[in-house]
Amino acid sequence: MRKRFGILTGGGDVPPLNAVIYSANKTAIENNIELIGFKNGWQGLLDQDYVEISKLNINPHIGGTILKSSRVNLAKVPDGAKNVISCLEKLNIDGLIVVGGEDTLSNAFLLTDLPIILISKTIDNDVGMFSKEGIVNHFTLGYPTAAGKIASYVSLNEGLRTTAYSHERIIIVESMGMNAGWLAISSALGNPDFIIIPEFPLNYEQFKEKVKERYIKNKNVIVVVAEGSRWSNNMHISADESEMDSFGHPKFKGTSEVIAKRLKEDLKPYFDTRNINSVNPSYLYRSGRPNDLDFSTSMKLGREAVKYLNNKPDHPVFLITEKRDGDFIIGSYSIAKLTNIEYFHRYIDKKLYNSDNLNATDSAREYLLSISNNFSDEKYGL
Ligand code: F6P
Repeated sequence: MRKRFGILTGGGDVPPLNAVIYSANKTAIENNIELIGFKNGWQGLLDQDYVEISKLNINPHIGGTILKSSRVNLAKVPDGAKNVISCLEKLNIDGLIVVGGEDTLSNAFLLTDLPIILISKTIDNDVGMFSKEGIVNHFTLGYPTAAGKIASYVSLNEGLRTTAYSHERIIIVESMGMNAGWLAISSALGNPDFIIIPEFPLNYEQFKEKVKERYIKNKNVIVVVAEGSRWSNNMHISADESEMDSFGHPKFKGTSEVIAKRLKEDLKPYFDTRNINSVNPSYLYRSGRPNDLDFSTSMKLGREAVKYLNNKPDHPVFLITEKRDGDFIIGSYSIAKLTNIEYFHRYIDKKLYNSDNLNATDSAREYLLSISNNFSDEKYGL
């Protein structure tokens, strides 16, 4: 009988999702396999809502996901895992490809006897591991595109530095990132003055002094702050608990505004603070076309996912993007013996972030250059 695989995309969308679906479909057709797309992530399996992918007209260069997305926590759905298994059986699905961030992928830990291929995507870049040799899973899909965007948004060549200079502004730019500062730190290639990330709670008094000194010296300052950043008492700078998702995450927004307001007040004795502003590009980080690295990696991952499933793994396998001898190649990691997604959480550490000067270290820059398409910026001033 002809094999039948399924694919779903969950969590916050990223630009290269359609490329994964397109490439998986192409490989499925070449191997005489039918590929079913579940709509709205795991919800499609609970509702048995699906579409035959070969009937869709997919442009792999367009962002978002043609299959749409959701944030379903199977552990909180009554009989969630049981219903997923019975849907797969009913539809004769021989294997499932799950493309998601930590929440979407975490559902696979409830289904460890099934042939599932996990592909990590998130502009947060917080799914992966560090090993003694360095970083395992070099980046998550969507991060290279988003990292390039934030660096360009703050840069002199393409971003806010010019207006900060012309109008002598202090601009606080908000980045996404609930728990990890990967996106914020990637702005380093665009040369912001300071970067604030969730992993290193902010000593506000020291920060305020640094901003004051830098402004008096240069007459323009750009600060990047990750939305999930915290004060030194560990409280979030801004979190709206009224709209928690099914994984218990509050809505993060307004962090840049809170910082801007506080600086406006506190720096008044030293200079005119009317020119302190906040900017939040928000969903723009996740929108638009994938860049070359995201695109080519997605095409490889889609192809490899179908090939791995075709070899009938008897438990979930995490496909990872490794950097070897300058090339990105796809490796695999069995999760058979693991019990939860915690194992794959990764955060920014001291090697990548200098909390004294509130900026990226040389190691972080080296890493960022390895995933950026020759991003370059300049500095100028009178
Ligand atoms: O998980 C990825 C992410 O982009 C986070 O950085 C962000 O906090 C979250 O999604 C917000 O997404 P949404 O508004 O879709 O819940």
